[in-house]
Amino acid sequence: MSKKSQIKAIRGMNDILPIETPLWLAVERVCSDVFAKHNYKQIRTPLLESTHLFARSIGADTDIVSKEMYTFDDRNGDSLTLRPEGTASTVRAGIENGLFYNQQQRIWYTGPMFRHERPQKGRYRQFHQIGVECYGWSSPDIEAEVLSMLDQVFQTLGLQDTELQLNSLGDSDTRSSYRAALVDYLSDHKQSLDEDSQRRLSTNPLRILDSKNADVQLVLEGAPSILDYLSDESSESFSTLRGYLDDLGIGYTINPKLVRGLDYYNDTVFEWVNAGYGAQATVCGGGRYDSMVEQLGGQATPGFGFGMGLERLVQILQEQGADIADRAAQDAADVFIISTGSKARSQALQLQASLVAVDVRVQCHMGEGSIKNQFKKADKSGAAIALIIGDDESAAQTVSVKVLRRTAEPIAQQSVLQNEASKLVTNLLESL
Ligand code: HAM
Repeated sequence: MSKKSQIKAIRGMNDILPIETPLWLAVERVCSDVFAKHNYKQIRTPLLESTHLFARSIGADTDIVSKEMYTFDDRNGDSLTLRPEGTASTVRAGIENGLFYNQQQRIWYTGPMFRHERPQKGRYRQFHQIGVECYGWSSPDIEAEVLSMLDQVFQTLGLQDTELQLNSLGDSDTRSSYRAALVDYLSDHKQSLDEDSQRRLSTNPLRILDSKNADVQLVLEGAPSILDYLSDESSESFSTLRGYLDDLGIGYTINPKLVRGLDYYNDTVFEWVNAGYGAQATVCGGGRYDSMVEQLGGQATPGFGFGMGLERLVQILQEQGADIADRAAQDAADVFIISTGSKARSQALQLQASLVAVDVRVQCHMGEGSIKNQFKKADKSGAAIALIIGDDESAAQTVSVKVLRRTAEPIAQQSVLQNEASKLVTNLLESL
């Protein structure tokens, strides 16, 4: 095929290559272990949903719904959308399958999400999230549990320089009185606002708080704080949450300008931000959304959760040279089996199966190749031990065992019967 006619991946949609997946798998494993230990159960929902679902939950004025969704009509003329996030789908599935009525749920999910954003470092058109959603609790204890899980995940991964930012958006009365006060204040400074913020003044004024424009930020310094508008109930709940976090030893900063880019939140909202990663520094964001279930046709059920961006998390761990990233980079089989001829190859395959059965990772040489050549491959593979079945070994049903690395002192090559090899190899691997 000529270069010209090569088909490329779609802009903003990346292949995650075999050399990268060991770290992805390690991160996913840490998350799923921590979630399982807190008794969270996974949900798997379709990538495609009815377009109405997102328009009705995320909010028509948000960037996601107004300009970033992959929406198309299918062959029946139904408008479908590739999910831009996981919360709306989880709520839809929960209502449809009766998961909420008189019940409480701790749920997690992972998978690709789609947003037609301008691609740049940390921002893609297909990206992956791991998310958690909890239903049936309006109290801040569940919020502390979820934040504690995240803290445990980041500690286990060895993530550095991450800051938890917290805010409360209060209830809907809070937000409408705060909105009025904010619009009042910003209208007096309208000439200093950029075009985007001027437009938001009438559509979604709270989103102006999120503006990255330096002039707008200057104006915002004197803006009223939403925390001064919280009802007694919201204020007490927020302070109880902060108390739980203090007792758990989880640090945070209060950021009264944190509003999030989706419209469904009330009360607690949060983001974990990584200093030094650049413009797309938010690794994870979430909060409380007590009206979505009812809004989508279910019985009123409070919800709380987060979505974590895996591309960002994986890149930050790599940039920071975290242990988990180094270990993933050295990901190799424990054992490489060298063999020549079909009889020896058959014995090698049997040996591979017996070693795998006792949890040893084994790579077998396949195809032709001299012993010398296979040795070179064994060495390059990074395996700790080479097992050799040449003609002599094959006839005697033995195997030669040679330690290639993970040892300071050279260990002499030894020979064992093939049916005793797995014991010797597991003992050796333990001692290296
Ligand atoms: P979100 O803030 O839109 O929230 O996304 C959560 C995380 O997904 C972000 O912090 C970021 O790490 C990652 N992310 C978002 N967009 C992109 C992108 N274009 N490229 C790479 N990574 C991205 C939600 O999605 C909510 N559903 C979170 C939630 C769950 N709230 C309650 N429950």
